[in-house]
Amino acid sequence: MMNFELKNFSPAQAATQQVGALAVLLGRDDVGSAFGTAAGLAALLDKARAAGDFHGKAGQILAAWGAEGAVAQRLWLVGVGRGEAANLRRAAAAAVQAARHTGTKELLLCLGRTPGAARLMAIVKGAAEAAYEYTTTKSAAALQKAQEEGAPRPRLERITLAFDGAHDAARAAAFAQAVAVARGAELAREWANRPANHATPTMLADAARQLARQHQSLKCEVLEPKDMERLGMGALLSVARGAHEPPRLVVLHYQGAGKGEAPVALVGKGITFDSGGISLKPAAGMEEMKYDMSGAASVLGVMQALAETAPAINVVGLMALSENMPGGSATHPGDVVTSMSGQTIEVINTDAEGRLVLCDALTYATRLTPAPRAVVDIATLTGACVIALGNVRAGLYSNDDALAAALLAAGEEALDAAWRMPLDDEYARQIKSRFADVGNTGGRPAGSVTAAKFLQRFVGEVPWAHLDIAGVAWNAWHGSKTKGATGRPVGLLMHWLLTQAGAMPAAASSAAKPTHKSEAKAAKAEKTDKAEKADAKAAKAKKQGKGKAAAK
Ligand code: BES
Ligand code: MN
Ligand code: ZN
Repeated sequence: MMNFELKNFSPAQAATQQVGALAVLLGRDDVGSAFGTAAGLAALLDKARAAGDFHGKAGQILAAWGAEGAVAQRLWLVGVGRGEAANLRRAAAAAVQAARHTGTKELLLCLGRTPGAARLMAIVKGAAEAAYEYTTTKSAAALQKAQEEGAPRPRLERITLAFDGAHDAARAAAFAQAVAVARGAELAREWANRPANHATPTMLADAARQLARQHQSLKCEVLEPKDMERLGMGALLSVARGAHEPPRLVVLHYQGAGKGEAPVALVGKGITFDSGGISLKPAAGMEEMKYDMSGAASVLGVMQALAETAPAINVVGLMALSENMPGGSATHPGDVVTSMSGQTIEVINTDAEGRLVLCDALTYATRLTPAPRAVVDIATLTGACVIALGNVRAGLYSNDDALAAALLAAGEEALDAAWRMPLDDEYARQIKSRFADVGNTGGRPAGSVTAAKFLQRFVGEVPWAHLDIAGVAWNAWHGSKTKGATGRPVGLLMHWLLTQAGAMPAAASSAAKPTHKSEAKAAKAEKTDKAEKADAKAAKAKKQGKGKAAAK
């Protein structure tokens, strides 16, 4: 993971720093005077603007090598639009991408205006996302060769964020949190990217154990098949039957509050490879089913981020880990299995395995002592959710309006958005079974909803939310720069948990008024901006959610 530092420089001071590369983030309205006393840079910006070569659109880059007025050899003027969080994220990513294509080890990222906590977090997020590169299963020789050929290799070792303005405690805390959340998302990304033979249930359980060894606040239990049998986890075990790799149920405890305080439970789907089982998937694109443990990986990432930010809250993270493979002892379509809850399930399609591992993990979660005050599961559960919401928003289902509203708000603020989906009881008709208490599939209509209705049967009255991340956990587009795992929804979950714990700096919460003049100005300007229309929509969605909660 990239090293991040926070410093207190104005753009003029940044220009005097001995660094390999300097990127100055500039808005649509910034002119030369943004550089204060750095006259050379002020002239450069004004000339570039006059020539029509720089207008500050988000992510636009004007590269000036050896520019007069900057000590850094490499200087980039990077557009941030009107300084909205989403645009700052894009701009920071563009600057880091530019730096990675050079020989610089250090990047100084400087802001012309003082960011509030939410914007600061967006910058760290964008920079960290762009700095990550998957290398785990490439040979050293291939990596060496790529570096010689000038590929964007991570020579970059440190990113320093610098801005002018008072270093108050809230901003320092926001920065530290942002780095921890980015590190958590990167851990999730890394494990999700690893192929199935490099990320087995056993390996993921070992990673969880190792994480717990590194942090006093974490404890790790790992359930093995014999434990699952003892507990009657027939649904989880039925998924693992065809695989040679044994399943694992990881239970990570983060204790940040008093022992007796009810925890939040997070339950991640961890299918390390989903072949479909006997209901085998078609060959094309099947390799993408290595990502089917992204929910569990996000739980691992969140647990690390919690240990590093130490909020006053208790959280139990569960990872339901198994392969889903065909084989002589694999579950047959039509088999009836008995879940830990006692409910019997007709396995109509062995490819609807996520809900089978989750239902037993959910039952386990609801029976924790003390009982959890909320349970949130995270799963690459249905192709139908990808059809419904694409790659932009995760599907959010919940039996509790207040919980849903809080998660939706956290998603907006963390640039990791979700969208609420329905749970009407009429949908449950589709999963009725003639031979068991419930069937594991409900046909094609509303496939994401019927999967959620199935899970709902296993949480009873506990406030529960289900995030279907099938569309957002990874980017499938070939040739995309960000191809591979995204680390979502670590940002959403951490934003929610930190807010719950009262550990989110006031300035990062949407409810807080901007405290800095420049930010207030930016906020006003944002209202006219396209990107902000999305924010307005989100706020409206939030209001609607609250309205429902009030009606309840
Ligand atoms: N892991 C898949 C869901 C999935 C598919 C995620 C494509 C991302 C992209 C899940 O286990 C699955 O196979 N679901 C089936 C359910 C069906 C058999 C009821 C699906 O969505 O087709
Ligand atoms: Mn499946
Ligand atoms: Zn699956």
